[in-house]
Amino acid sequence: MIILGIETSCDETGVALYSETAGLMAHRIYSQIALHEEFGGVVPELASRDQIQKLLPLILQLLTDEEIALSDLSAIAYTAGPGLAGSLMVGACVGRSLAYALNIPAIPVNHLEAHLLAPMLEENPPTFPHLALLVSGGHCALIHVEKLGGYFIIGETQDDAVGEAFDKTARILGMPYPGGPKIATLALEGNPTRYHFPRPMTDRPGLDFSFSGIKTFAANLIHQEGSDPSTFPDIAASFQRAIIDTLVIKSRRAIQQTGLSTLVVSGGVSANQLLREELALMARDLNIELHFPRLEFCTDNGAMVAYAGFQHIKQGKKTDLTINIEPRWGMGSNLRLIHS
Ligand code: KG4
Ligand code: ZN
Repeated sequence: MIILGIETSCDETGVALYSETAGLMAHRIYSQIALHEEFGGVVPELASRDQIQKLLPLILQLLTDEEIALSDLSAIAYTAGPGLAGSLMVGACVGRSLAYALNIPAIPVNHLEAHLLAPMLEENPPTFPHLALLVSGGHCALIHVEKLGGYFIIGETQDDAVGEAFDKTARILGMPYPGGPKIATLALEGNPTRYHFPRPMTDRPGLDFSFSGIKTFAANLIHQEGSDPSTFPDIAASFQRAIIDTLVIKSRRAIQQTGLSTLVVSGGVSANQLLREELALMARDLNIELHFPRLEFCTDNGAMVAYAGFQHIKQGKKTDLTINIEPRWGMGSNLRLIHS
């Protein structure tokens, strides 16, 4: 069985082939970062127009390179949400129509579930149950993953997502979108103890997050320092340290509260080196297992969608002929919609 995975939820066009016997065969990503850089964020209309141009050639290139014929495909999995409606529509239309033409199933996949499952593509994949820390541009949540499809959110952000906080702060520092990796690089030259940023919601019980205050703190600090570029590395380092400390404090608390012995981290921010190092220290201290996706599967990609689709097929999920997108599809409704 070979599944074609299609990811077009935002500004990345990702495609992949997953085989039941051989595992992940290959994947390709086309990133639109250069297209949106000058606007300081993703422009939805430009994103969907570019997805239209890039998706089919990318699929055909992948199949040609891997010497796989369209008739070898057993199913097509596409991201149905959450994400930008126009971008999602491109993947959904292509995925659903191609599957119809080939008379094979098309599987709508939840983007968040795909991120959660990305670490399963690695050697020694995590087992269930486990605690998941999902940190992306649109989300920040602690999830008790009981089993495939059994997701219980036990903590989530009350405002900004963690990647969003990185991106917005980077923008104030004059850095182009996406700002997360750029802040992380600038922070390498800075002193993380020079400025004391808040560690929001860590001084009270609970597992929820709030990152909009940290971003505002950064904006005020930059203003107070006269927007002097020589202070930027220390601001970036202090900001990053506060975010990572907060994520580690809450993850530690969640492990202690649930008694789970495995932590699985995913989403774009899981590429952050400081987060990886600090969580590794925590895992050693608590004597728990720790899993990350490889760096290229932290951010959006087709491989995680193909894998999620494969799991749904294996579980006997049935789909119809509707071209379905759910731009605001959450993890809670994921339980009902995908695993009903
Ligand atoms: O998972 P993703 O590709 O898209 C969403 O589903 O949202 O995550 C993208 C986010 C962006 O906000 C980006 O700035 C952030 O992940 N990011 C990072 C790093 N690499 C990507 N944030 C901090 N440090 C990084 N190394
Ligand atoms: Zn994503």
